[in-house]
Amino acid sequence: MNKWLQDKNSFGMLAKTLAGLEEILAGELHELGAKNIDLQNRAVSFTGDKALLYRANLSLRCALRVLKPIKENIYVQTSDALYEAIQEIDWSRYLDNNSTLAVDSFVFSNYFNHSKFVSLKVKDAIVDQFREKTGTRPSVDTQNPTLRINVHLAEDKLTIALDSSGDSLHRRGYRLEKNEAPLNEVLAAGLILTSGWDGQSTFIDPMCGSGTLLIEAAQIARNIPAGIIRKNYGFMTWQDYDKELWQRVRQKSQAGIHQNVPQIIGGDISPQALQITANNLERAKLNDSVELRQLALQKLAPPKDAGVVIMNPPYGERMKEEDIIDFYKMIGDMLKQNFTGYEAWILSANKEGLKHLGLRPAKKLAFKNGALDCKFHQFKMYKGSVKAKYQKNS
Ligand SMILES: C[S@@+](CC[C@H](N)C(=O)[O-])C[C@H]1O[C@@H](n2cnc3c(N)ncnc32)[C@H](O)[C@@H]1O
Repeated sequence: MNKWLQDKNSFGMLAKTLAGLEEILAGELHELGAKNIDLQNRAVSFTGDKALLYRANLSLRCALRVLKPIKENIYVQTSDALYEAIQEIDWSRYLDNNSTLAVDSFVFSNYFNHSKFVSLKVKDAIVDQFREKTGTRPSVDTQNPTLRINVHLAEDKLTIALDSSGDSLHRRGYRLEKNEAPLNEVLAAGLILTSGWDGQSTFIDPMCGSGTLLIEAAQIARNIPAGIIRKNYGFMTWQDYDKELWQRVRQKSQAGIHQNVPQIIGGDISPQALQITANNLERAKLNDSVELRQLALQKLAPPKDAGVVIMNPPYGERMKEEDIIDFYKMIGDMLKQNFTGYEAWILSANKEGLKHLGLRPAKKLAFKNGALDCKFHQFKMYKGSVKAKYQKNS
């Protein structure tokens, strides 16, 4: 990566994401001013300076964490070679005796079977370096370390990176309460950005659960950085932390927030879900930007000014098959009857259910929701004859 760097303050970084969101994340990085953007598997590499590292952590909606590689593509095939490679790094640049560290290892290798073993070996190599030089050593804290170290071993190719995010960036800080099966915040933002919603037309999630899609939509519409209420990032305990620069980065992105917000409507049949959404909205300081309606999709009358509907209905794990089919048929019927002019997107792991919507998808995308393989289908609810436009069971 170094051969691309023109600016001496510039360095390589890697933003990790969920499968299928690489392109959207690359677009976000481009907007933030990143250079040398390169799509990888569930990650995007790029270059930039320390201000960009801070901006990326604060603003990226589709990144799980931002890594700063310090040693890349070293070949190691044995645990001794791994130990030596780690000892070659001067860790006093990143840690001192009073620091704490955590090592996260991701191992896809025939040479090393266990990621826990790799983490332990890396930790030993680091603390031994301190013990040999100073007689004392940093300690391990897996929850709240001064430095989180990311180890990636693909076969015999080792990359060591510092994790500038600390806690995963999907933990925005607003969702302390959850209803059933909430979406990962990064996935929710990714779905909205994938839909191409312009942030100006009506946005509806009629099955909002804990309100994740609503909160992410309101933040997108008002240009609010994803990490606005989050207090801590990994880079804040790094030796080179520049608090003034961080404050400048924060102020600049706060200055870009505006109040213009289209109608964003959340519905749910469950009063408990609606209460959770209301609490989450309050924590995100977005209660004025979103309208909540406690009712079933069957009763929701959307505004005539059409826009985008994104919903994540129950996948029916706890339902009988005929009930699932009826439930998804009902969703399709409601979209046809009440949402003329809207563009609807449905995320579901239930393929049978999706088939029984009775609507023909204009686009079919695939995502993973946790461990579940999901489809994300787009339906265009054209004006005019419903019969002519939709095919049954397609
Ligand atoms: C999978 S959860 C949605 C999770 C949500 N996307 C989140 O991130 O928290 C599905 C939601 O659909 C709601 N629901 C089920 N049937 C409904 C109906 N007929 N009308 C409206 N909401 C319904 C449930 O109460 C539940 O909160």
